[in-house]
Amino acid sequence: MLEPPRRHRPAPPAPGNPGGLAERAATPRAVLGLPPGSVPGQAGPPAGEVLHPALPSSPTRGREPSPSPEEFERPSSARVYDYLLGGAAHGAVDRRAGDELTRTSGDVVTLARENRAFLRRAVRFLLAAGIDQFLDLGSGVPTMGNVHEVVARSRSTARVAYTDVDSIAALHGQALLAAVPTASYSTVDVTDVAAVLAAPGVAGLLDLGRPVGLLAFSMLQHVPDDAAGLVERYLARLVPGSALAVSHFTTDDGRATRHVERITASYAHGAPRARSRDQVARIVAGVDLVEPGLTWAGQWRPEAGRPPADTDPRGHWAAVGFLR
Ligand SMILES: C[S@@+](CC[C@H](N)C(=O)[O-])C[C@H]1O[C@@H](n2cnc3c(N)ncnc32)[C@H](O)[C@@H]1O
Repeated sequence: MLEPPRRHRPAPPAPGNPGGLAERAATPRAVLGLPPGSVPGQAGPPAGEVLHPALPSSPTRGREPSPSPEEFERPSSARVYDYLLGGAAHGAVDRRAGDELTRTSGDVVTLARENRAFLRRAVRFLLAAGIDQFLDLGSGVPTMGNVHEVVARSRSTARVAYTDVDSIAALHGQALLAAVPTASYSTVDVTDVAAVLAAPGVAGLLDLGRPVGLLAFSMLQHVPDDAAGLVERYLARLVPGSALAVSHFTTDDGRATRHVERITASYAHGAPRARSRDQVARIVAGVDLVEPGLTWAGQWRPEAGRPPADTDPRGHWAAVGFLR
């Protein structure tokens, strides 16, 4: 049985932090062993500085997610990933798949953490570069240091529109974000660009006339055909100065992925398709990449004192760039 979404009672708002965002971010970061406080050298605007006009207290989120019986019976990428990260939004079927991956396919927990740590660094980097609205494709469960939590810890009020096809992850997401006016969660298939951009949680939250950070962390492997073309279609709708951050599952490293294909074949929303570095390079070809270019996720601007070990498995190619 899957646990129902945990309805967090929002912490009392701190002065200058109307959504109580920083407080809500504290627990997951502590779980991940992340340092408290803002990022040295990359602090966002001072707490309380408002970047946007006031938002309605409950941004529109679009259609209510309605999980099908099949979704409950099969593991899903969103929920297995949540399990690997130590989250709480998964069921027994996801734990079984996650355990089997861990048993047979090497250090998948490290792969998941490596990807999540890249997300954190990439979002901080984009905030420091002035991006203050994000469209996150295939978001998974918005906990365990996901985008709006990184935004909050950077003391920014940047907006985050999460999207995912997984109705159960979306149920958790909408419950968790109910009191966060700067974030929304839309249940939508990201291969339908028009549907994503028209979703009330996206269209009602983001201003496409201004730069947007388009995020696709460990999700494009779920787009079996022409992921590069899909990203191109999104970029065509964004203004210059917008950014793209991508991480993509790969088997190029070869150490951690032996049984992944078999185990993930039963995923509710499609199994991942690993791509090579050259294939991922085509996906990010539409933007000017910042240093160090396309690299292993763990090696993209690692935090001082926390470089990846040579022995760490490498499961994602990663890059960040800007639209000219
Ligand atoms: C490995 S998880 C990554 C989650 C998150 N982006 C992260 O990096 O932490 C992949 C996510 O992509 C989602 N996904 C897969 N296919 C999708 C689609 N066609 N449309 C929207 N989301 C999709 C899955 O449901 C899952 O939440």
